[in-house]
Amino acid sequence: MITKREFGTMPDGKKITEYTLTNSSGNSVRVLDYGCTVRSICVFGTEVCLGYDTAKEYFANDAYLGAVIGRFANRIGGAKFTLNGKTYPLNHNDGENHLHGGAEGFDRRLWDAQVSGEKLVLSRLSPDMEEGYPGDLRVYVTFSLSEENALTIDYAAFCDEDTVFSPTSHIYFNLNGHDSGSAMGHLLKIDADAITPSDAHSIPDGSYLKVDGTPFDFRAAHAVSERIGEADEQLQFAAGYDQNFVLNNHGAVCQVAELTGEKSGITMQVLTDRPGLQLYSSNYLTRRAGKNGATYRERDAVCLETQGFPNATAIAHFPSPVLHAGERFTSKTVYRFLRGKTQ
Ligand code: BGC
Repeated sequence: MITKREFGTMPDGKKITEYTLTNSSGNSVRVLDYGCTVRSICVFGTEVCLGYDTAKEYFANDAYLGAVIGRFANRIGGAKFTLNGKTYPLNHNDGENHLHGGAEGFDRRLWDAQVSGEKLVLSRLSPDMEEGYPGDLRVYVTFSLSEENALTIDYAAFCDEDTVFSPTSHIYFNLNGHDSGSAMGHLLKIDADAITPSDAHSIPDGSYLKVDGTPFDFRAAHAVSERIGEADEQLQFAAGYDQNFVLNNHGAVCQVAELTGEKSGITMQVLTDRPGLQLYSSNYLTRRAGKNGATYRERDAVCLETQGFPNATAIAHFPSPVLHAGERFTSKTVYRFLRGKTQ
């Protein structure tokens, strides 16, 4: 069942709507048409996703809480890229670099909404040169919640010119409850043999680092906290986990990660066909008020952002982020919730 309610008003007077997807066990997901934002995921009586109560707080949101990111997830070094011999300057919204689609990325836009049976389809036309990216890009993001408590996010897009495209969803998870403090005790598994190391500004340099013997080996489950304080350059650059993992899914939708709340016993499995996964231990989530009276602080959540590789615009041997004119981009990510530890 999908219901809706008014959530707030855009500065230009347009209404923001919140859609609630509920399955027959009463588990629910709330999505805003502002920023394509997942505001709530309530499973087995626990609210597992960080969010805000009001539109105003989302307008001031510097952490992309719950939003869909586009056109390009994570960073592009030097805030520019070259495609077909032409260089496109982008917004420098992260020092010298470009982060999460720019200052007015997908997370800041009001999307068109359509309810189609048990699916919520949010779409928009991102016009040519929006935030510096070429081509009129039509994007669809479809949310559904299954009877098996799987939240599926389907991305589809096409463009009238060659462009680059690499979306993600920036949900902050705390499986013990959004207001339960540090999420660093969560157990995590990631099916990845390598990460793409970054410089001090989180820009991948094109190398691969095998996870063997490093704090990035999550092929067997580890608490996120277990090795986060190690004297590792990558961890120190990012003040914790904030790295892109090279997934072993070979382009097919399959399980790539599993996260368990050590107190609640709630497990989330992540399935995707995307080549990368950003593990972000919310190192820069500075203290702030969250929904329902919660206070959020650094490390109170884990983000598992399925994505193309950051800075892939500059690195020819990374999976290509180019979307050719007329080609259809499709991708799927599933967050499936289970009760009881499986790790
Ligand atoms: C990035 C972080 C960034 C954060 C912003 C994450 O996806 O990897 O470096 O600070 O988003 O919320």
